[in-house]
This record gives sequence, structure tokens and C-alpha cells, in this order.
Amino acid sequence: MIVKGEGNYESKIWFIGEAPGSQEEKIGRPFVGGAGRVLDSILSEAKIERGQAYIDNIIQERPSKNDFGVYYKDKGRKVPTGYLIEAHERVKYLIKAHQPNLVCALGNEVLFALTGRKNIFKLRGSILEVHGVKLIPMVDPSIVMRQYEFKPMAVLDMRRAKREMESPAFPTPYNDDFNISPTFEQVIDKIAELHNKEYLTFDIETAQNQILCIGFGWSKSDAVCIPIFYSGNSWWTTEQEFTIIKAIRELFLNPSVKFIAQNAQYDMIYLADKWGVEVTNLWMDTMVAFHCVYPELKKGLDFLCSIYTNRPYYKDMPGTGGPDVLWKYNCLDTVTTYECAMEIRKELKEFGTLDFYKNHSHKLIKPLIKIQRRGIRINLRKRADIDNNIEASVIEMQQRLTSAVGYDLNPNSPKQMKKFLYEDMKFPPQRNRKTGKLSANEDAIKTLARRFSNPIFDLILDIRKARKLLSTYIRAKLDNDGRIRCSYVITGTKTGRLASRESVYRSGTNLQNIPRGELIRSIFLADDNYRLVNADLSQAEARVVAYVARDEHLQILFEEPASDIHTKNAAMVFGKKIKKISPQERQLAKTLVHAANYGVGDGAFSKHIGSSINRARGLLNQYYALYPGIKRWHLEVKEWIRKSRVMTTPLGRKRTFFGRWGPDLIREAIAYVPQSTVSDVLNLGIIRASEHLPQGWELLMQNHDAIMMQVPIETDDMHLLKFIKHYFEIELEVEGKRFKIPVDIKTGLNWADMKKLELNV
Ligand code: URA
Repeated sequence: MIVKGEGNYESKIWFIGEAPGSQEEKIGRPFVGGAGRVLDSILSEAKIERGQAYIDNIIQERPSKNDFGVYYKDKGRKVPTGYLIEAHERVKYLIKAHQPNLVCALGNEVLFALTGRKNIFKLRGSILEVHGVKLIPMVDPSIVMRQYEFKPMAVLDMRRAKREMESPAFPTPYNDDFNISPTFEQVIDKIAELHNKEYLTFDIETAQNQILCIGFGWSKSDAVCIPIFYSGNSWWTTEQEFTIIKAIRELFLNPSVKFIAQNAQYDMIYLADKWGVEVTNLWMDTMVAFHCVYPELKKGLDFLCSIYTNRPYYKDMPGTGGPDVLWKYNCLDTVTTYECAMEIRKELKEFGTLDFYKNHSHKLIKPLIKIQRRGIRINLRKRADIDNNIEASVIEMQQRLTSAVGYDLNPNSPKQMKKFLYEDMKFPPQRNRKTGKLSANEDAIKTLARRFSNPIFDLILDIRKARKLLSTYIRAKLDNDGRIRCSYVITGTKTGRLASRESVYRSGTNLQNIPRGELIRSIFLADDNYRLVNADLSQAEARVVAYVARDEHLQILFEEPASDIHTKNAAMVFGKKIKKISPQERQLAKTLVHAANYGVGDGAFSKHIGSSINRARGLLNQYYALYPGIKRWHLEVKEWIRKSRVMTTPLGRKRTFFGRWGPDLIREAIAYVPQSTVSDVLNLGIIRASEHLPQGWELLMQNHDAIMMQVPIETDDMHLLKFIKHYFEIELEVEGKRFKIPVDIKTGLNWADMKKLELNV
């Protein structure tokens, strides 16, 4: 059945989809099924009325098996059939004849039909052209329906459509003025001139740990790129390069210029390491600032460019030509960053997070750069010994595996493991829940191990674990000074917790993920004549929950001196005296607090503690009965999210929850405030402490709710304790009630061997 276009040809805005689905076929109207409902909700968030639009599809009948591929001659969908070409022409003809102000191409096939281009994820949000009419490609609503994380992006693109539909005029083209190969004299003159700019964006391009060029932008179309290194050679004479770098260093020291960069940490670490440059007045990091408005969205410059500018996608330029392509690309990055920064500043104000950005996320950049540049010393001898021991045990385990299996089986090879598990051993196939594909990953092996007792599973899991320890931690690439470093990503999570990964030079590893226990932590050493000091926020998330949930019973538990709340909870839940609580019962109570606080369901909790659903439900209910505030708070969060979708933490961080409505979304919202508050408290401690660190004291690592420092070995313990308490025990206020998260402090020469520092302050 043919599903005809709907609406008026004279509409200012047209939506063109790929082809109808079964609902559309049944009802005879485009976009009325699941994808249609998603389209309607995107339209309503962008304040466009569906009735204002003309809506049609490229193909007006449902493809056999809903497979658009049937309209191509080849599998790779490169050669369209005559039928599809005719369908393209039909829609193009209509556009040419009726000249709407704007056509929205909903999906890759429509983009191809109307422009001959593919790659919707790069081009979405750009303003393209068809027969003199503006065209904006957008992600197909049926993809948003399946992958809801694309919804906010679709809404932002639709808001652009709302602005563009009012007039047929294309945005004024950029009047780019890029200086991409200045002479030495021009470079020096230009840098002198840049001292007078109010805002200046900067961006470096790098390869093989070298700075290739540096660009500066001072409007949305004016930039200069200063080449430094190309094709293995310096661009300048040694003397010229020295003079240029000196001039750049002085420029960055100018406190009256407001500097802006995208992912400033990366550039600033390079600039500091390679040229000794310090950026005095960093005014905005667009990536970090954007994250304070849209923590759920991607934050690469390509994405920001698609949201805030009218520039088409340009991020695939590098590598497509000689040096001038790279320099032009560098200029484009700086002007794009400029344009985005000005828009993001408005959004920070509108969303009410400008202060949070300025006082928190922004101030974290410099201390984190210092921590990342410093790195931490590694005990090289011990590392080599551990490496040898693990390697020997892997060889021994591998030999046992070979004799058990009868051939060399590599437990890290998915192909070999699938063959072994499902063809040789004929175990029931385990499939990936999302893709439905056969799986031999760790979860699959563990599930089989639970069902079929066979020592081979343990052997396989142990080999995999040992190899992972070796490759990820023990053999992580050290820098030339024998230290290990990482990157801390301020925008790495939706909650605001930092993420960690290898350093900007691709050395090191995620230092927030070092396994507990002595083995690996023992290789992390203080420098000579220093000792390590680890301060961690004690029972931090549960404490925050007690206050945000306004549960007075739970608050009292935390306020009692020297309180171990898990033992006390265990005593209450199991009806025993505190002294009689076993370590297992304490552990169970700890898990219970976490699960109950975050609204984990009976089923998930029972799996987690390995008991029946009835017992799990009984424990949770007992906890809720003891602390009635928790359940009330869960309901409040649910109501809040339903009404506004926005949550704000006591420190002023905000997040809009764009996800699909349901229990998972509510649980995420419940966990959000405590999780982000704890990491924000620690990070605020880092900001405050780093401004007052006594001579010789250094911050070395951030571990979500703990900070590792080193201090000269002879540092007075009382001084240390007072300093840490003063800067890291931050007073929070929730509905008039004030509280602090106390810190536990440990000290020692290596990370595995630390003693608690207890003095009565
Ligand atoms: N997807 C489309 O592309 N068109 C419809 O009409 C419905 C879903």
C-alpha cells in the first residue's frame, strides 16, 4: 500500500523519511508508529507543530522485510536500483517545484537521496542544500527509538530546524581570514598584536609527541596558524624557533587576555612540557563548560561545531593533503572553539551553572594538570619481580590448560574460546544480550562456570585475569623518568566523577582502576625522603544519602563518634549485639546499605548477595523500615524527575536526565546526587588544598573519593592532619542542615603499606 505524503506542499518546513513501516502501512499515514511518536516528541521539545509541516518518505511503500537494502543492486548499498533513483527524483522534483524554506532529511538514505552524500553522523546538524533549498540532515527517528541516547542530539538539531524554517535564506557564509604560513617577521608581529585581544582561543596539533603547529583565533573567522615542525624537521632556524616560543610564552603570561581552548588540559600539558609555557588566564575550556550544561552529550569539537555553528563537518581534513591542509584545519579549530565558547557561556547562564563551572570544574583544570605532569614513582625492581612471577604462573597454568584440552587454547581469543566452549565441549550457547551474537566473554564463562562445575573454567578465568594484570597494570608504559602517569578526564562521566585513562603521550594507564590488594599497589612508591599520604572520604556516599534523604535516624548513626555504621546496621538488621557481628555480616550490611540507598530491586540484590529473592526482599524491607526517609526520598526523586527531568546537587552541579522513562532512569537519578557530590567534594578539596600546599608537598593521584599526596618524610603528623581536615572536610548544607564528610588518613612509603594516622585534633 502506498503511504502518501501528508500536509501542505506550501509548508515552510518539510520532513522526509526513508520509507513507511508496518504501522504507517496499516494506517496509511507517514510517521505514525513508534518512530512517529519519537518524531512527535522531538518536535514538541523543539516547539514545532507537526501540523505546520509537510511529511513524506523517499519510498512510499513498506520495503519487503522492512529492509531498505532491497532498493540497491549491491550489499554495500552503493548502487541504487532504477526504482530508487526514480524515488529520489520524485522528492527532489517536489522540492524544486515548491521551494520550502527548509527540508529535514531524516536518516542516511534521505541524505543520500537528496544530496548524494552519506554519513549522517558526521553531517547531521549541518546546513546543506538541495535545489537552492536549505537541508538539515538528522538522525532517523527510528534509530533514536532504539538508541535513546541520541534523543538530546535530535532535539538540538530540531531546534536548529525551528530557527532555520522561518526564512529561506542561507546563513551568511563565514568570511574566513586565516593566516596559515606567516613569515618569521609576520609571526612576531602577529603575536605582539595578539596581546591586545580580549579573547583568544588556542589549539595545537601534535604527532609523535611533537607540537606541529599552534593556532590562535580571535573571532569566529579570524585566525593564525604558526607552523613549528613538519615532516620530521623544524620549520624555522633554531634561533627563530627559540624567539617564536619565547614570544608565545610571554603571550600566555599576559593576564589581560582571556584564553579559551577545547580540552585545554591536553594542550596545556604539551605546552608546559615542551616549551615551559604556563597559561596564566585560562578563561574557558569549551569541553568542560559544555559538560556543565549537557553532561549526557558527546563533547568533541566536531559535535559542539554541529550544535553551535553553521560550519559543515570538517574534522576529517587532517591527512587529506599537505601542510596547508593541517594549518587550515588548525585555524578552523580555533575559530570554531571561539564561536562555541561564546554560545556555551550563554547556555551556562541560562541553565544556571555558570558559577559551578567557574568555581568548580574550571578551577580543577590547573591542579589536575599539575598532578598529571608529576606522575608517581614506580618501584622498578619490584615491578620486574611481579612481572616474572605472574608470567611464570601464566606459563604453568597455560601448560595445565593445554594438557586438559589436548591442544594450545588461547583463553583471550574469542574465536578459539567459542570453538572450544560451543563446538568441542558443546556447552549451551551464551549470547550477548544486546546483539544476540554468540559470546565467549568473561560473563559468558562465569555463567557457564556457575551451571557446570568444571575446573577448566577457573583455569581459563585465572589465566585471563593474570594476563590482564600484566598488560594493563604491570606492563603499563612508564615515562622515561620511571614514573607512571595518566589523564584525568573532567568530562568523562555523566555524574561529574572524573574518568582516567593513559596520559596525553599514550603512556601509563587508568590509575583510578588499580586493583585493591597488596600485589600491584606495592609498586607505587613515594619519592626518596618523602612519604605517601592517602586521604579518603569516609563512608561518603551513604553519608550524603542520609542528609539528602533527610533521614534523621541515619544521620544520628553517622554523627555518633567513631561510628562504624555498617557494623551498627548489621546489629540492627540481624538483631544481634555489635560485638557479635561477624565480618561477613558487616559486609552484607554494607552491600545492603548501598543497594537500599540506590533503590536496587529485590532480584538484582538477591543475585548480588547470592541468596533467595525472599531473603533479599526481607533485608531490603528491614532496612527501609529502619530508615523510612530513604523510601520517601526515592519517591521524591521520581516525582522530581517526572516533573522537571533536572536534578541539582548541594554543590550546584546540574544534570538533565534525557533517558527513556523507566526504573533504570529513576535509579540513575537517585544515585546521581550522592555520587556526584562525593567526587565534587574531593575535587573541591583538591582545588582548595592546591592553592595552599606547603613547600614540597605534592598531590599525586585522584581516586574518586580519595586523594594521594606525598609530603617530606619528616612532616609533622599533626600539621598534616590539620591541613587535610581543613581543606578536604568541606561543610555541605542540605535544607538548612550542615554536615561534613570526615576523611580517613593513611601514610606510608608505598601504597600497599600504609598506616592509619590518628591523632586527636
Ligand atoms: N520511518 C520512516 O522513515 N518513515 C516513516 O513513515 C516511519 C518510520
